[in-house]
Amino acid sequence: MRLIFLGPPGSGKGTQARMVGDRLGLPQISTGDILREAIARDTDLGKKAKSYMDAGELVPDDVVLPLAERRIVEKDCKKGFILDGFPRTLAQAIGLEEVLQRQGCALDAVMFIDVDDAVVVERLSRRRVCPKCKAMYNLDTDPPKREGVCDRCQVALELRSDDKPETVKARMIVYRKNTLPLVEFYESRGILRRIDGEGEIGRVFDSIMGELSEARRN
Ligand code: AP5
Repeated sequence: MRLIFLGPPGSGKGTQARMVGDRLGLPQISTGDILREAIARDTDLGKKAKSYMDAGELVPDDVVLPLAERRIVEKDCKKGFILDGFPRTLAQAIGLEEVLQRQGCALDAVMFIDVDDAVVVERLSRRRVCPKCKAMYNLDTDPPKREGVCDRCQVALELRSDDKPETVKARMIVYRKNTLPLVEFYESRGILRRIDGEGEIGRVFDSIMGELSEARRN
């Protein structure tokens, strides 16, 4: 299956994309992770992306689109993939359609995981990530076994640099302006599925799997 997980910052796209990817044996492709990795390695891409990400702005389409295209045409994506955080603008969505058309395939479903603004702010202030293995925790709902330390690597957990309250606010504004219009776009394509992202993680996962079974039948 070729899937998109769409939703506001902190809605649980990454958490769910990883779980669904594991269940279905599909690679999870997060443009945010690819960009953070590039920043950590101080590559040209990282240098271009850093100032946008630190400000909570979108990295320009002409940087992100080729990056996503290169990843989607890799061998492990032949049987499908889950896109997490891409596309985020209409130009990216149209660019993705063109890439898939060239490959003779199409998207199967778009999971729109929605949560309230207050939930976003709360969740992101409580998120912690492992700088080494990228494992993600939440101090309230999914804490590490030992306070402040990654279960796998025993490395000190960090707050993501764009999870500061003022940057989260900027990301929400950008989301509404640039990404929310994709809901209508994919609705018009008949492949949008709405998921209530406010239940506990296992329940959200079950809803997604239920919607995916239905999408497979159609
Ligand atoms: P990106 O990394 O994609 O961030 P985002 O979309 O803002 O989403 P997040 O990663 O913050 O949240 P999420 O929805 O994945 O939630 P998560 O599962 O982590 O992008 C970062 C930046 O990169 C962008 O601002 C932009 O600059 C740039 N960028 C990336 N892609 C781009 C593109 N295509 N075009 C242009 N620029 C791009 O969960 C959040 C927290 O909540 C965690 O602590 C988790 O444990 C917890 N949680 C999850 N689900 C639940 C639940 N059901 N109940 C309770 N807690 C939960």
